[in-house]
Amino acid sequence: MTQNELKEAVGRAAIAYIPDDCIVGVGTGSTANYFIDALAEIKGRIRGAVSSSEASIARLKKHNIPVYDLNAIDSLPVYVDGADEINHQLQMIKGGGAALTREKIVSAVAEQFVCIADASKYVGVLGNFPLPVEVIPMARSYVARELVKLGGHPAYREGVVTDNGNIILDVHGLRIAEPAKLEAEINQIVGVVTNGLFARRRADVLLLGTEDGVKTYK
Ligand code: 5RP
Repeated sequence: MTQNELKEAVGRAAIAYIPDDCIVGVGTGSTANYFIDALAEIKGRIRGAVSSSEASIARLKKHNIPVYDLNAIDSLPVYVDGADEINHQLQMIKGGGAALTREKIVSAVAEQFVCIADASKYVGVLGNFPLPVEVIPMARSYVARELVKLGGHPAYREGVVTDNGNIILDVHGLRIAEPAKLEAEINQIVGVVTNGLFARRRADVLLLGTEDGVKTYK
């Protein structure tokens, strides 16, 4: 199977986690896009969606799925999103698509986080994928120097402005032995909006697309 076929399979498998008559939290990226397309097929049994990016909002609207403002709702049973890496404790690196801050906000509200990923994303130790950090533009150089002190090699993601008007630094060379500790440390740097470690709010369920079918980890 191709990587895209594995992504499509997990996007479809996530539909089993969507309760009737609910508002669904929807993530960002190519795997989340397959989930949105699968969601369109059952849109008659949901109320709508809350999304973590303008790109996903556009795709949801294209399917005529109602999109809600997160501030207009007080609970979200489930959030479905991809990851750039996920370890065996279901902690993740996210933000390859620069949507990490809104992903963190929507997933914080959700009762259950269902991560959908192809087998290439499942790792023993996080850090091979460069860790995205969303930064207020005027703090870029200062934050980069602080990230070097933590042992990383930050690179400015040229030409990318987040949906929140900020920039992204991708931190290379980290072998992340303690994801929750590093997540908190980076968030303490003045000028950081958030970083792409999802360790404190890890996934509750991983649907992993493999050659042997979709495997479920909890
Ligand atoms: C976007 C994300 C995505 O979930 C992550 O980059 C995975 O993307 P894809 O499904 O395209 O591999 O965090 O900010």
